[in-house]
Amino acid sequence: MANVNENFLKLQDSYLFSTIAKKVAKFTEENPNKKVIKLGIGDVTRPVIPAVLSAMHKAVDEMGTKEGFRGYGPEQGYDFLRNAIVENEYKNLGIEPDEIFVSDGAKCDCGNIVDIFGMENKVAITDPVYPVYIDTNVISGRSGNFNESTGTYENIVYLPVNSSNNFIPELPKERVDMIYLCFPNNPTGTVLNKEELKKFVDYARKNNSIILFDSAYEAFITEKDIPHSIYEIEGAKEVAIEFKSFSKTAGFTGVRCAYTVIPKTVYGYTKAGEKVSLNKLWNRRTTTKFNGVSYVVQRAAEAIYTDEGKKQIKENIEYYQENARVIKEGLQEAGFTVYGGVNAPYIWLKIPSGMKSWEFFDMLLNEANVVGTPGSGFGPSGEGYFRLTAFGDKENTKEAVERVVKFGKTLAKHNKI
Ligand code: MLT
Repeated sequence: MANVNENFLKLQDSYLFSTIAKKVAKFTEENPNKKVIKLGIGDVTRPVIPAVLSAMHKAVDEMGTKEGFRGYGPEQGYDFLRNAIVENEYKNLGIEPDEIFVSDGAKCDCGNIVDIFGMENKVAITDPVYPVYIDTNVISGRSGNFNESTGTYENIVYLPVNSSNNFIPELPKERVDMIYLCFPNNPTGTVLNKEELKKFVDYARKNNSIILFDSAYEAFITEKDIPHSIYEIEGAKEVAIEFKSFSKTAGFTGVRCAYTVIPKTVYGYTKAGEKVSLNKLWNRRTTTKFNGVSYVVQRAAEAIYTDEGKKQIKENIEYYQENARVIKEGLQEAGFTVYGGVNAPYIWLKIPSGMKSWEFFDMLLNEANVVGTPGSGFGPSGEGYFRLTAFGDKENTKEAVERVVKFGKTLAKHNKI
């Protein structure tokens, strides 16, 4: 008899975005003539930029020649890409190429990183949160059971972020070993400035904790004093692992490429109190479980750092930033309270009082044929909120905003807003 990992049974029925996809598929099947606009999952819609395309074509051609063919590459990524990342993303931050691990996605990295941490570690997450951090800790056994009444897992420390604390998480009240932070934040679209982030770095240094910093949306920052990397904060190189992705920055959700940064100065501990390099552990894990990202994709990623690539990517990001502005301002003008959208591609909408997030989701889908993401799907503190993404097509985004505004007016008429 093969036993299963029963931790899986503690998870909610299905992953948030799968649940949404199923609901939308059912609606579309039952209403084939309705034009559904999807601002739910944060998936990019702009085509891959020409600089990336031509780098991919060239790399494909190379693979067809005796001299240019590559078999297994280095598990950690080719030097050309690791060097380009250091040069372009971490120039004055003292990060070295062997501290960069190229992968096929930040979601995988954020999920897999739990392999190198002890089971007894206490984990803190912000709430609402990108579900991957919590689910992967549940699967690996760091949580207790799910408590239906609180909507939380036992043994996990939740740090609420909501309008009453201006979306700035408080430091954990009890000692924790691992802290997940994602800024610019998914799902709220809000940010921490350097001073606020430093409090977490100081906490981690004082408590020998590790910060797992997801920086997937860094390219969308528009305001000054917002850190683009946690390593801009003094001391972070002792306590932080950073996850970055080309998905949202360069439209790579389908191409697949990301990286994790683990400075050689970041240590965990054995139960006996000996220091262990997390860079070494992750390297060991990577070489055991991963054969690297394909050569073609790594050449594609490298191309975003050419002058042409940078310019083309900037245009795409500006396109999405404009969508974010249209959503934010459109909804604000219609009387909705909205957060985020300035330094992030996510708009976090306060839904009419008394209404639950999933109820709003269903009504919006049925009445306005617009798909968003219910805030409660990201955790209990997300209840009462709703997320819209700026990754859609410009015309569709405008139309979606008009429909949401119209829907809001109908609710107002029935005193629901
Ligand atoms: C989201 O919508 O939260 C993201 O697209 C999910 C992801 O990046 O995996």
